[in-house]
Amino acid sequence: MQIYLDHGATSPTRPEVIDLMTDVMRSQWGNPSSLHWWGERSTMAIERSRLQVASLINADPEGIIFTSGGTESDNMVLMGIARQHQTPQHMVISSVEHSAVRLPAQYLEQHGWEITRLPVDRQGRVEPKDLARSLRPNTVLVSIIAAQNEVGTIQPIEKLGQICRNANVLFHTDAVQAIGKMSIDVQTLPIDLLSLSAHKFYGTQGIGALYINPETTKKRSLIPLIQGGGQESGYRSGTQAVAAISGLGLAAELAEQELFLESARLAKLRDRLYTLLADIPDLIPTGAIGTDRLPHHLSFYHQHIDGRHLVREMNFAGIAISSGSACSSGTIEPSSILLVMGYSQTEARNSIRLTLGKSNTDADIEWISLVIHQILNRQEGL
Ligand SMILES: Cc1ncc(COP(=O)(O)O)c(C=O)c1O
Repeated sequence: MQIYLDHGATSPTRPEVIDLMTDVMRSQWGNPSSLHWWGERSTMAIERSRLQVASLINADPEGIIFTSGGTESDNMVLMGIARQHQTPQHMVISSVEHSAVRLPAQYLEQHGWEITRLPVDRQGRVEPKDLARSLRPNTVLVSIIAAQNEVGTIQPIEKLGQICRNANVLFHTDAVQAIGKMSIDVQTLPIDLLSLSAHKFYGTQGIGALYINPETTKKRSLIPLIQGGGQESGYRSGTQAVAAISGLGLAAELAEQELFLESARLAKLRDRLYTLLADIPDLIPTGAIGTDRLPHHLSFYHQHIDGRHLVREMNFAGIAISSGSACSSGTIEPSSILLVMGYSQTEARNSIRLTLGKSNTDADIEWISLVIHQILNRQEGL
């Protein structure tokens, strides 16, 4: 039996998306910029997808820009806004950002920008008052992750965004982990820019979007990363990946339809697994609990066992989990996220993440608990 519990790293492309993408590749392969029938058909596929993605976050479709994924969207925001300014200014990020925000911010800092990294509490949460205090007259952007990838903690996005809106500062959120797991409505939430990525909600890898609020973000608030043919309203040049974009659109439509029931189902499975593992004294949960946590997300550290060792043992047993962030799990550095949350080097190195998804069932949960108990009993017997 094989069980995939690493949906935070990527999710399997759903069959409906594969079928649609195959059809589009067969019959809608025209260049969307071409003026003839082939081009028009591709344009129609892209515009349909734009509506579907917009609907998922209740956005004006005009504000949806297709990109190659979360990393590009995040980079586009930080680097694009920075390049709009002649001299270095000030930006605010949290200390629990994904590297797709963290590293562009670090790059800008090396080039004279001032970067404030907001601290988080033991659960990984940013305190809105800290954000209010950090703003300066020359703050041009605040970027705070909507839900943290390693520990599943959901940030108080509404409060954080409102502070920025009151101060007339652009607010970006990396919602790559949140989209498809929780409802995000950019009409009611004070969000100016939002990154999302298809492969986290059963679309394919290499495609995503940046939402740019057309009302609050002036047309030229950010300079495009990629210049060329002027596709995507000039924000992202390059012939669009029509099939991948169509797949993203369908994944978004299905995610919207299923969001409520599927999130509730996953939260129930997650809580059941937490309960089943609660009798293991050395396995300590990390991150927020309850409604402030992504519904499909569990994270722990073991007091004595290296996270990568546990990942390998689970893999031998046919269960895929990850240690720390999957995006950086090739390195042997302890999770920087756990460190800033106040955990020790050993605790950070021993952290693991289990992220549930569509294929996981009640029976899986019982089996996973059994396997974890067995592995840990065996380790303790060594
Ligand atoms: C929070 C977050 N932001 C950005 C990314 C990068 O997204 P992509 O893989 O689409 O480039 C990830 C991927 O794991 C993520 O978890």
